[in-house]
Amino acid sequence: MKPLQNDTFLRALLKQPTDYTPVWMMRQAGRYLPEYKATRAEAGSFLDLCKNTELATEVTIQPLERFALDAAILFSDILTVPDAMGLGLYFAEGEGPKFERVLRDEAAIKALAVPDMAKLRYVFDAVVSIRQALDGRVPLIGFSGSPFTLACYMVEGGSSKEFRHIKAMMYSRPDLLHRILDINAQAVTAYLNAQIDAGAQAVQIFDTWGGVLSDAAFGEFSLNYMRQIISGLKREAEGRRVPVIVFTKGGGLWLEAMADIGADALGLDWSCNIGQARARVGDKVALQGNFDPMALFGTPAAIEAEVARILAAYGHGSGHVFNLGHGINQHADPEHAKVLVDAVHRLSRPYHGA
Ligand code: CP3
Repeated sequence: MKPLQNDTFLRALLKQPTDYTPVWMMRQAGRYLPEYKATRAEAGSFLDLCKNTELATEVTIQPLERFALDAAILFSDILTVPDAMGLGLYFAEGEGPKFERVLRDEAAIKALAVPDMAKLRYVFDAVVSIRQALDGRVPLIGFSGSPFTLACYMVEGGSSKEFRHIKAMMYSRPDLLHRILDINAQAVTAYLNAQIDAGAQAVQIFDTWGGVLSDAAFGEFSLNYMRQIISGLKREAEGRRVPVIVFTKGGGLWLEAMADIGADALGLDWSCNIGQARARVGDKVALQGNFDPMALFGTPAAIEAEVARILAAYGHGSGHVFNLGHGINQHADPEHAKVLVDAVHRLSRPYHGA
């Protein structure tokens, strides 16, 4: 395997100088790409695709063949962990993820345990295979859900708008929710460390639903458990630091607190001004984001203008990884994604170097 050819992404996460601002896109492998849909049809279900080493490798590489991305992200899902805990994950067509068994009564919660990592072997096999296929082209990102975001799906049984069940538990039996979160945190720590052992060169914790919590509840039920995970992660592999990115969607109000849990970088959605965010976190962390994924439905000129606006708001120097503020929409035009990636590279050069 060749040494890493493009380490711009890893350097930016550590605020080391780069020639330009690196870019990748959340959900860059997915249904907006016709070649993804073709491979997915060949694999069968979405979970079959995740468990097929060869095809999971293929779809991870697909966006890199189209766009000059500076990082690859493991093709998998955050819900592999609760699935390995025995909750029975399945995807109902057009309805998103669902669990056969939900976690609401005390007996089920008391029986919950950290899964044997052997059950997630297919994920680690995919990491090894993707690293081989990348052959040093760009770094590979591993990932997991945050304990709270995983708990949302485990308690609600699927996607939710109101989060009634998990919030009812939080306010009536906080001890039960804390038990779930503690087990999730232990499981995620072991899971991310195994991804790092297999070859992940950076890891991201997706706290997609942390933003639905109150200020006090965010600290107690989400942030604390992400801190616990980060304190248990291996931070070096292959002689390099393995940066940790924490992304809380809707977390813009809490950046100061988030900058204090030991992460190297924070992900931003599109709701905050990245220049103000930078001033608030200071030198503590790098920032990733904050392009509204729906802005890809604008014209190419509007996309370039939005890229230019975000780059100018961040300003000079390293410490910004360009990204969408959430996953790319399945109806987005791949040609527009290409406009974004190329614009980031072209327009960011004046902000780097002397
Ligand atoms: O970014 C990438 O390209 C890597 C792959 C990736 C997937 N899911 C593949 C996927 C990543 C990083 C995830 C993370 C994930 N999964 C999150 C956190 C990030 C976020 O978007 O907030 C969450 C909340 C999930 C749970 C999940 N998985 C949902 C809610 C859905 C259905 C939503 C949808 O877009 O249909 C999934 C399914 C899923 N995960 C798909 C993909 C490509 C679509 C499934 C398909 O091919 O039919």
